[in-house]
Amino acid sequence: MNTFDEPRARWVVGNWKQHLLRAQAETLAGTLVGQLPDELLDRDDTVHVGIAPTFVALDAVRPWTRPAGPLWLFAQNCAAQESGAFTGEVGPTMLKDAGANGAIIGHSERRSHFGEGDALIASKVRGALDAGLRVILCVGEPLEVRRAGNHEAHVLAQLTQALSHLKPEHINGRLIIAYEPVWAIGTGVAATPGDASTMHNRIRTWLTAHYGQSGADRSLLYGGSVKPGNAAELMAAGDIDGFLVGGASLDAASFLSIIQSAATE
Ligand code: PGA
Repeated sequence: MNTFDEPRARWVVGNWKQHLLRAQAETLAGTLVGQLPDELLDRDDTVHVGIAPTFVALDAVRPWTRPAGPLWLFAQNCAAQESGAFTGEVGPTMLKDAGANGAIIGHSERRSHFGEGDALIASKVRGALDAGLRVILCVGEPLEVRRAGNHEAHVLAQLTQALSHLKPEHINGRLIIAYEPVWAIGTGVAATPGDASTMHNRIRTWLTAHYGQSGADRSLLYGGSVKPGNAAELMAAGDIDGFLVGGASLDAASFLSIIQSAATE
C-alpha cells in the first residue's frame, strides 16, 4: 500500500517547538521508537507518527526517522523561497537535504509572534509541496472570533488563502490540514470533541466542494491541548484523523498514550 496517498491516513505529530537540545531530541526520538508497539511500526502503519524538532536537531534525530527509522520527520517552518539572499531562512530543498519528510506551515505561533500572513503562508505551502515535502497546514480561530460566532468563516477564509496558489494536483496525500483553535494551544483547554468534530466536518465539506475526492480524502488533525486524557474522546467524535501535539509530545509516555488512542479509536 502506498501509505502517503492512503485516504484519511491517521497521523500523530509531535510539535516540539523551541524545546530540546540535540542530544535530548535524539534521546526522546529513540525512546519513542523503542516503545512504539510493533503493530504501529509496520510499513502499512495504523497511524503515522511524526516528530517536529527544531531545525538544528533535524539531523540529530534522523536515524529514527524515514527512511532509516519508523518516524516521520517534520520541520516546524519552511521558507517560501528555495534559496537566495534571505538571511535566517531555510528553504524546502534544504529541509529535505537535512532529512525532513515534511513541514508544519502556518502555525498560529508563526502567525502571531512572527507576523506571518495568509499570502506568505500560501507561498510556503506551494513551495514545500513543489519540493516534495509533506505539509501540515495549520488553521484556527482566536478566542474573540469564536466568541463572536465567526470561527467557521475565519477558518475557511484561512484555508481559501493558504491553498490559493495550488493546482488541483497539489491536493493529494502530501497535504494534511491541522485545525488548531488558537485559544486551545498550550492553555490546557482543548476544544470539546463536538466542537472539534463540527469544525472538521465543515473543513472536509469545504475541501470536498473545492477539490472533489482528493479534498475529501485529506487527513484532518486536531491540535490544542491534546492529552492522554482527551485523545480517545476526540478521536471518537468523528472526522478527526489524528493530532498535532505540543506540550504532551515532550513526554514519551504521554505521547505514546495519545498515539495509542489515535490508532485504536
Ligand atoms: P499544545 O500545542 O498541544 O501544547 O496545546 C499544540 C500545537 O501548538 O501544535
